[in-house]
Amino acid sequence: MSNDFWVKTGQEHIMKNVGRLPLVLTRGEGSRVWDADGKEYIDFLTGISVNNFGHCNPDITVALTRQAEKIIHVSNYFYLEEQIKVAEELAKLTGYSQVYFANSGAEVNEAALKLARKYGKVRLGGKYQIVTAQHSFHGRTYGAISATGQPKYQENFKPIVPGFVYAEFNNLDSWKAAINDETCAIMLELVQGEGGVNPAEPHFISGLIDLCRKNDLLFMVDEVQTGLGRTGKHFAYEHYGFMPDLITIAKSLGGGIPCGALLVNEKANVLTPGDHSTTVGGGGMAFAAALATLKLLQEPGLMASVVKKGQYIKETWGSWCNEVSAIKDLRGLGMMLALELKVPSKQVMLACLDAGLIVNAVTETTLRILPALNIEEDDLDEGLQIMKSVLKQF
Ligand SMILES: Cc1ncc(COP(=O)(O)O)c(C=O)c1O
Repeated sequence: MSNDFWVKTGQEHIMKNVGRLPLVLTRGEGSRVWDADGKEYIDFLTGISVNNFGHCNPDITVALTRQAEKIIHVSNYFYLEEQIKVAEELAKLTGYSQVYFANSGAEVNEAALKLARKYGKVRLGGKYQIVTAQHSFHGRTYGAISATGQPKYQENFKPIVPGFVYAEFNNLDSWKAAINDETCAIMLELVQGEGGVNPAEPHFISGLIDLCRKNDLLFMVDEVQTGLGRTGKHFAYEHYGFMPDLITIAKSLGGGIPCGALLVNEKANVLTPGDHSTTVGGGGMAFAAALATLKLLQEPGLMASVVKKGQYIKETWGSWCNEVSAIKDLRGLGMMLALELKVPSKQVMLACLDAGLIVNAVTETTLRILPALNIEEDDLDEGLQIMKSVLKQF
């Protein structure tokens, strides 16, 4: 059946809750995917930083196949061997000794927000307010949209959860003003993803660390998009030389199988039996894929090559300035990168798609790329070449 046939059938039955593109992807391998008509695309988006080791990575596929024949789900009344191994591996990688597993970024952020409220109750005499950043994104559940400092995600769903205050990203005075006698925690992304790929300034983060220390606040970092190697370090907080009280991760952790994790230090370890839970919370398939993913992530030289490829992309973009007039600016960290355009990013994204390249219009004027961390140099060059020729037309 053709791409058009599947799109039409899909449109009849699948809710229009997102602006889905009229494209049915049927197969993927490494940094390439094919649609239902057999057209080939280079993928610079990796399912929004989920397929970070390429589509159908053989190590992940083998782990999944073996696990499917062994055990898939046991409920949260029991442990799974693979779950314990992932917890152990994450503890070794980060230094956080306690983990809670769930199925998505939004879900682990919900857990973090509940944890912050409990911390305020039991450690700070009932303080409950959480300060988050303007232009942030923390997911689509109620707590997560309430933490998200972008009115467009909240508008149709009011009233949202009370107790959130939004401060300006990279403006310490704004956070000082937002923190008051009711504040128990702050939460932010170190590179804002959906807000347009905005890295935090180091002096801003050191100021926030001081504020949290002085006021006994929990410093919560959402690493759902930045974590697991995306920025050229295993976790973005490593760029800033500190360890938050808790982090949340998801996206690539389960290699495409839903899995999220909330990792906490001693100070934040306040949840007790009955406080929070989920039926599946990752599950056998996700944990098997996570073990394979964490092994791939720790391959010697991988982080150095992410840094190198990220620099190469930025230099390549920079070298187009005489031929491409649509570019205003470029920014990002590691392989979480964006071009700020003088033209509508959606039009560029659609033209790229037409030319066989998947990129993302993350804001009206920002074009984001999140290529596989292990993308082959040839695929990277071919994708960049397509981007250049498309951008030259604008
Ligand atoms: C920083 C951040 N937090 C949370 C989420 C929500 O994750 P999920 O879509 O898995 O619920 C996202 C998703 O893009 C994200 O980028």
